[in-house]
Amino acid sequence: MAHKFPKDFIFGAATSAYQIEGAAFEDGRGQTMWDVIHRDQEGKPTQDVGDIACDHYHRYKDDIKLMKELGLQSYRFSISWVRIYPQGAGEINPLGVNFYQNLIDELIKNGIEPTATLWHGDLPLVYDEKGGWLNPEVIEHYLNYAKTCFDLFGDRVKIWYTHNEPWCAAFLNEHPLGDQLQIAHHLMIAHARVIKLYRNHLNGDGKIGIVLNLGKQYPKTFEKMDQFAARNVDGFVNRWFLDPVIKGEYPKDMMELYRKQGHHFIIESKDLDELKRYPMDFLGINMYSRGVQSYAPFNPPFYAQDYHMPEAIYTEMGWEVCPSSLYELLMDIKEKYHNIEVFITENGAAFKDEMIDNKIHDPLRADFIKKHLEAVQKAISHGVNVTRYYAWSLFDNFEWGLGYSKRFGIIHIDYETQKRTIKASGYCYQRIIQKRSL
Ligand code: NOJ
Repeated sequence: MAHKFPKDFIFGAATSAYQIEGAAFEDGRGQTMWDVIHRDQEGKPTQDVGDIACDHYHRYKDDIKLMKELGLQSYRFSISWVRIYPQGAGEINPLGVNFYQNLIDELIKNGIEPTATLWHGDLPLVYDEKGGWLNPEVIEHYLNYAKTCFDLFGDRVKIWYTHNEPWCAAFLNEHPLGDQLQIAHHLMIAHARVIKLYRNHLNGDGKIGIVLNLGKQYPKTFEKMDQFAARNVDGFVNRWFLDPVIKGEYPKDMMELYRKQGHHFIIESKDLDELKRYPMDFLGINMYSRGVQSYAPFNPPFYAQDYHMPEAIYTEMGWEVCPSSLYELLMDIKEKYHNIEVFITENGAAFKDEMIDNKIHDPLRADFIKKHLEAVQKAISHGVNVTRYYAWSLFDNFEWGLGYSKRFGIIHIDYETQKRTIKASGYCYQRIIQKRSL
């Protein structure tokens, strides 16, 4: 008999505001940094932009019907900071608030649990222009925005995520490494303070955690120097965030590596105290792939080079498909991070879809989801405290710098007509949820 998922295991799907909502100039919404990144001086788009995206802002009711049809128990969305505070702080925008009130109520009415990310990449433009997260002032504004969200929605939203993928926010930019490490640290301070705020908040009776993009790093061979390279990349991508959010400290080897190479950033010991004093409730993991590293003596700071596995399947993003690495990553978390409760907050793949007789065939995506859920089951059977899985993504959507060219959805979007079509992978996920087994 097929193995069942535990009774309280929750299946969901995830999205984020800028990637699906559209309605970028409606109902008093302010501007985010993403409203200008792909535009010229006159405001003309130079590439795909999220002005319309999946038009979810207007279609959320129908979209919730689709979630219900899929059998989703939970939905992970993000709140757009500039719909609530068009200028980042100051006047609250009641129409923006209304949208999320309605979305949350509609989800609950349909038996789907709303779970919300406070910040998923779409920083208010006003703060981006002041240096973004490199400027510590942003932390206070973020706290104010978080408090407003807890006040407004915390009576019904009982699962909160602080930041989504702080690694991307800190390191995918043009700043020198020292500044990037400073950005990462400011994000950690902001995270710690939001947890503290939530603990002391009237509505703070739910759970709160962070969402990290993690990928297990393997050495290409057993050679010592390949292991050194893999350990450095693991330190850079995984441990630099896992250690502070769970243990309240930065990994010593990485601290030494950065200092030795002369990268300048300021960390005060009291900042880390806050991370220790206010532990989060769970860890959200966005997992897409793994890394295989070989030693590259002329490639500081990590002396590593990504190795391409000749036999493996790669997604349209160029990411290797490796479900067993999810199992191993989860075992690492169990062993090294006090078996903290884990949610898989994102997992999915961009592959080309094929339309046959008005049906969308995407066997590689369906297989990807299934195999990763298998890895989750195996981890559960070995004692890992993983309690949720959210597929990325509910819809094809705006894939940041790559626009609409990469499709991650289990629901297909025709961007000309906004027609939604559940893909074969969506139906496969529906069956898994229904049976609660693979
Ligand atoms: C993680 C990010 O959270 C999400 O915004 C993005 O679309 C997916 N990765 C796929 O790249």
